[in-house]
Order: sequence, then C-alpha cells, then structure tokens
Amino acid sequence: MKKVIFFSALFSMIFSVQAADTALPAPVKKGGMTLNEALNARKTIRQYKSDMLSMQQISQLFWSAFGVNRADGRRTAPTARNCQEITLYMLTAKGAWAYAAKENKMIQVSNKDLRSFAGRFKAPIYIVIVSNSKLSGSSPRSLHYAAMDVGYVSQNIYLAAASMNLGTCAIGSIPKPDVLAQELKLTDSEKVLLTHSVGIPK
Ligand SMILES: Cc1cc2nc3c(=O)[nH]c(=O)nc-3n(C[C@H](O)[C@H](O)[C@H](O)COP(=O)(O)O)c2cc1C
Repeated sequence: MKKVIFFSALFSMIFSVQAADTALPAPVKKGGMTLNEALNARKTIRQYKSDMLSMQQISQLFWSAFGVNRADGRRTAPTARNCQEITLYMLTAKGAWAYAAKENKMIQVSNKDLRSFAGRFKAPIYIVIVSNSKLSGSSPRSLHYAAMDVGYVSQNIYLAAASMNLGTCAIGSIPKPDVLAQELKLTDSEKVLLTHSVGIPK
C-alpha cells in the first residue's frame, strides 16, 4: 500500500512538472532593429517594471541567446570546437525551466521561485547560463574557452534585449550559485557561470 501511495505521489509530481512544459512560439528571424541600432542601444539596465515578458519576447530572447540557427543544429552563439556545452535556464515567479533549443520549448525543472539566488534585482525573469565541463573538457584551456563561450551568449542577450526595448544586466556576482545548482538539479560537471536579469525598463 505504502508503495502504491509513493509511486502515485511520484507520478503526480512528475506529471505536474511535465504538464507545465511550454512550447515556445517560433522566433522571428527577419527584420527587427538593425544591428547598428542594437549596438548603439546596448547597455546595462538594473531596474524593471514588474510586468512579465510575452512568450514571443521569451522565445526571441532565448533563441537570440543560444538558439539553433542552422539545419545542422549549430547555434546563434559560437562555442569552441562546437562543444555546445551551454544550457540556459529561465527563472520566473512560477518556477524554473530549461531551454530546449532544438525543440524550441521550455522544460520545467522546478516549481519554486529561484530568482533571489540568481541576482539581487527585482526582475520578472532571470536567465541562468550553465556550462558543462563534461562537454567542453576540463583542462585549463578548455575552461578558458568555456568562459569565453558564455561571453558570446551574454552579448547576444544584451543585443536581443536592446533590440526589443528590454533591459538586462549580466551578473557575475551571483548570490547563491550553489543553491541554484542544487535547485536546478545540475550534475557535478555543470556550473552556473553567469546570470542575466531581464525585464521591461522602469
Ligand atoms: C562578466 C560580467 C559580470 C558582471 N557582473 C555584474 C554584477 O555582478 N552586478 C552588476 O550589477 N553588474 C554586473 N555586470 C554589468 C557591468 O557592471 C556593466 O556591463 C558595466 O558597468 C558597463 O555598463 P554597460 O553594460 O551599460 O556598458 C557584469 C558584466 C559582465 C560583462
């Protein structure tokens, strides 16, 4: 009997999390602000309205950051040796999601609000950039490359935010990276390297 209760509780937990997986609208790949205009508008913004972003804005932001832009599965940001060792997570008041770039969807990994572990600003969304040394390699050179790879993703976030009139801040001084890693159920080889707060500027 105990076993039945345990498995039905486990099933309902898994089911409730899976039920919240979210397909994203297709990102827009043409038009928009010009690159020169986006570069000219790029800046760090740390104060945001409490409004949530639209699903289209979320899709655009994550695709720009590290989405798939070619038929062979390569991405909007380069990675050394094409290791593609980066996974992006989205944190909101309602939980945490892993961005599945190929499927263009969000996979829910937590029902908790983890934003305060990612940064100190009041933002409707945080993006967490996770790097997996199992994929990049863990030699000093590989880790050096992995840190650079995160930088490209971060700049993509900055430019995408600027092009959509959103505000963002890269955050290296992450309040609780270890708690975040635990809550996101990361493996030992996965590290939280950078986060970004994102929102509509105040
Ligand atoms: C790797 C990196 C880490 C950063 N970490 C923080 C941070 O922890 N807290 C913060 O408020 N800003 C952080 N910033 C934002 C910088 O302070 C900001 O980019 C800088 O002041 C220049 O401003 P600008 O982006 O508007 O040009 C970080 C930026 C980078 C690139």
